[in-house]
Amino acid sequence: MTRFDGKTVIVTGASSGIGLATAQRFSEEGANVVLVGRDAEALAKAARNMDQARTLTIAGDVSREPDVISVAEAAVARFGAINVLVNNAGIAMSGRIDEMSLEDWQKVIDIDLTGVFLMSRAVWPQLEKAQGSVVNTSSVSGLGGDWGMFAYNAAKGGVSNMTRALALDARDSGIRVNGVAPALTRTGMTEEMMGDEALVQKFLERTPLGRVGEPEDVAAVIAFLASEDARFVNGVIIPVDGGLHASNGQPPQA
Ligand SMILES: NC(=O)c1ccc[n+]([C@@H]2O[C@H](COP(=O)([O-])OP(=O)(O)OC[C@H]3O[C@@H](n4cnc5c(N)ncnc54)[C@H](O)[C@@H]3O)[C@@H](O)[C@H]2O)c1
Repeated sequence: MTRFDGKTVIVTGASSGIGLATAQRFSEEGANVVLVGRDAEALAKAARNMDQARTLTIAGDVSREPDVISVAEAAVARFGAINVLVNNAGIAMSGRIDEMSLEDWQKVIDIDLTGVFLMSRAVWPQLEKAQGSVVNTSSVSGLGGDWGMFAYNAAKGGVSNMTRALALDARDSGIRVNGVAPALTRTGMTEEMMGDEALVQKFLERTPLGRVGEPEDVAAVIAFLASEDARFVNGVIIPVDGGLHASNGQPPQA
């Protein structure tokens, strides 16, 4: 499939996990891909199997405005336009309110929420020119609360509702804004959890499809939302969770 021939896609947090799978998916589908992350070496490694003529890596921190402006400028300088922005960079942090420092709270909000605002604002004029779209990686943690993760819940809840609000504000601009809400997915972020068999089993008991997510599961839905196939889909957050979110939260009875 080459749904993205001649299109330029920026993916943040692209050196690992869901971001890397997403960058690979867009590259396989013909896009020019701009991989953004904090570590230049990790990005170069992530991009090594992609068609170099259609690949650009830029080291930058999405919570720093000068960095995101440089990303937008470099993408346009290299490829002439920006059609799709995937706001995927993020960090997770656990801890209840009596355990959370202001510094840690600020870090989660700065990267997970403010980063989405800054990156989107930096590329908005280009997206408008290209009639492009934004896909945000929220989380099931941005659709409801978790135990002991309130800062992450606050940030991802913000991403979910920002997605809906930006879709409204984009009225008449031609820009679509959507998101994905993955559940437990096998990446570096969840490596420790995945090593805890009893914990994974608890997740599986509440997941009708009976397995954890893989980065490629999420990448496929991100690519769909960014594609012409989703041309009339706007302001939605699609759970990519094997059915977890279909439950009202009560435990399995059988
Ligand atoms: N893995 C899961 O179970 C899961 C579930 C739901 C949502 N998510 C979300 O998916 C997204 C991707 O996470 P992942 O699971 O692939 O983990 P990951 O740790 O492999 O990927 C996150 C990436 O973001 C990058 N990053 C972090 N802070 C950054 C910053 N300030 N600027 C630029 N890049 C930065 C990291 O370097 C990393 O490459 C995150 O937003 C995460 O919250 C993950």
